Amino acid sequence: MTAFNGAVRTAEEKSRAWRLHTLTWAAENALRLEGDFVECGVFEGFMSQVVVDYLDFAKLPRTFFLYDTFAGFSPRYSSPADFVADWNFYDFAQKAYAKPGLAAEVTARFARYPNVRIIEGVVPDSLVGTAPDRIAYLHVDLNSPKAERAALDALYDRVVPGGYIVFDDYGWEQYGPQMEAADGFATSRGAAVLELPTGQGLLIRS
Ligand SMILES: C[S@@+](CC[C@H](N)C(=O)[O-])C[C@H]1O[C@@H](n2cnc3c(N)ncnc32)[C@H](O)[C@@H]1O
Repeated sequence: MTAFNGAVRTAEEKSRAWRLHTLTWAAENALRLEGDFVECGVFEGFMSQVVVDYLDFAKLPRTFFLYDTFAGFSPRYSSPADFVADWNFYDFAQKAYAKPGLAAEVTARFARYPNVRIIEGVVPDSLVGTAPDRIAYLHVDLNSPKAERAALDALYDRVVPGGYIVFDDYGWEQYGPQMEAADGFATSRGAAVLELPTGQGLLIRS
């Protein structure tokens, strides 16, 4: 609770308390495995800040890789059709994500953590040559079905057995294509994503 209260800045962030509970649970358990931590889709860094504060991450012999364009969706991977229930959501979200000075804001937010690496660029392209070989914790929160599928294609084999993959928007009707992308990938690997009451999806690497 201390990590959550220390990071929270808005009522919207406060509403994500249970989702943070899932993430801190996954992150704490991931420490029993070998491997680094990855988040695809960082925005202002709220959720990852709660995780690093909760784990006192600076003291850990791990690296947390944070991937985002810090300028919103890439037209190569995203379009309004990704949001089937409300095509206007694309423009609304794009405006919010393309917040001026965002990369600098996030850099400042994690300045206390020398083992947090911020990688600016389009996922999955930015994963090439930067992603860690072994991953114990992977948070997928791009709001982009194509980019999320491509991130899974690139990263899944690097997730160690028993490693935790959490999809932020898996169960919400608004984000149906994200569920289809995650399920399509999981099925191709003989696995299944667990839908949580928070709307998140959980996949444990077998
Ligand atoms: C829902 S927000 C992430 C929220 C974040 N996890 C938090 O703690 O608040 C989605 C983010 O994904 C980023 N994004 C979307 N598509 C992307 C892509 N293909 N490559 C990199 N970043 C992308 C957006 O810029 C946006 O910041």
